[in-house]
Amino acid sequence: MIVKVSKTTGVHGELAISGSKNASLPALCASLLTKEWLTLENVPLIDDIYKMLAILKSIGCEYTVENHTVQIRSPNPNHKVLTEVVGDIRASYYLMGALLSRKKKVLIGYPGGCNLGKRPIDFHLKAFHDLGYRITEEEKFLHIVYNGTKKHRLRFVKETVGGTINALFASCRLEGVTVIENASLEPEVIDIIELLNKMGAKIEKNDNHVITVTGVKKLKGTMHKVIFDRMEAGSYMLLASSLPNSNLTIYPVDASLLRTVISVIRSTKTKVKIMNDSINIVSTENLQPLNVLIGPYPFFPTDLQQILSAMLLRAQGKSVIEDTVFPGRISHINELKKLGGNIYLDEPQNKIVINKSDLIGARVKAHDLRCTFGLIVAGGMANNSTIVENAENVLRGYENPILKLKSIGFLIDEI
Ligand code: EPU
Repeated sequence: MIVKVSKTTGVHGELAISGSKNASLPALCASLLTKEWLTLENVPLIDDIYKMLAILKSIGCEYTVENHTVQIRSPNPNHKVLTEVVGDIRASYYLMGALLSRKKKVLIGYPGGCNLGKRPIDFHLKAFHDLGYRITEEEKFLHIVYNGTKKHRLRFVKETVGGTINALFASCRLEGVTVIENASLEPEVIDIIELLNKMGAKIEKNDNHVITVTGVKKLKGTMHKVIFDRMEAGSYMLLASSLPNSNLTIYPVDASLLRTVISVIRSTKTKVKIMNDSINIVSTENLQPLNVLIGPYPFFPTDLQQILSAMLLRAQGKSVIEDTVFPGRISHINELKKLGGNIYLDEPQNKIVINKSDLIGARVKAHDLRCTFGLIVAGGMANNSTIVENAENVLRGYENPILKLKSIGFLIDEI
């Protein structure tokens, strides 16, 4: 897909935010933990969700999709996940933990997903190992089988969203208590804990990032509304802040889950008003530069780093971003340079340095999901028109982005 973006002075009106991609993907896999029907509401209809559904279908799951509600059940899933779609998305790693829980064994290839630099799954595999699963590799397939010698305590060396959810899946139906230390408690992980507990799991967490799982024999079906997509909300908030004449309200959102994003945006002198379940952004001509440290929640999220980078090209001075989660998430830098962006990676420091730039439209290439949204934002800031190639990447994680952008007055067309 190729899109043409024209200079846009501001976005206006109200915009509905979809359900969370990164909570829906593991929630769909949680259906493997029971024979019963699971009903998930507020699932975004995006490419990564359709890919996950295709993988689940290939191992015998049945489902219906109506509006944003997915009803899904897995009467007898196959533990061999042979479809190549596994290599198309990152979240296919959730099939490992979920199938281990249900079948005590899994045969699956490595996950794919956006190229954000090094993205190993060693933390997941170490967690499975500690939970008593034996792992072997056969011709690019991982073969993981339960051998019954479980540790009662496991510790992640670094907070990991996917690793934590996989450890929850793989432990919640094992006998006895499992303590997971240095667990990720991103809102999407907490959403999955709520879902699993509704299904009958016994999972408790504390503020020190320790999760205690008391194994249960069986899980049951339930109904669950997936939380809103913090990253979609943040993306449109940054888009509005990037253009000098915006007045945009997004809903329905829980502003407490966006508090760092809100405080970062406020420190640029953009006005952010928090209402009941909505947030209003009124942009400023005089955007201020920033120093931003990216880290696990509640730090500013890595998923918004590339979009923030684009926005800061309009700030009145030098900004610096340090992404400690995915330092290799830099595919946008060379593309923003093509638009005249004064942005570079300070390699020794591993920091992205961004200076005020007058952008001029050009032809750019989108390399991954968030890079695409960042380039669209930059295109709106640039004089003349910008052509974004490989823009289909945006469809992996944003629901109806072109329609939504047009509805708030952003000048974009698929060509
Ligand atoms: N890490 C390892 N080994 C592992 C797992 C992670 O070294 O086995 C490292 C990563 O390289 C990274 C850090 O640990 O430095 C944290 O990675 P994490 O495991 O939390 O990331 P993830 O689970 O693979 C999810 C989201 C990402 C999001 C990150 C961080 C999904 C499907 N993906 O990835 O979303 O950036 O958490 O919040 O939930 C996106 O939506 O654009 C996206 C990339």
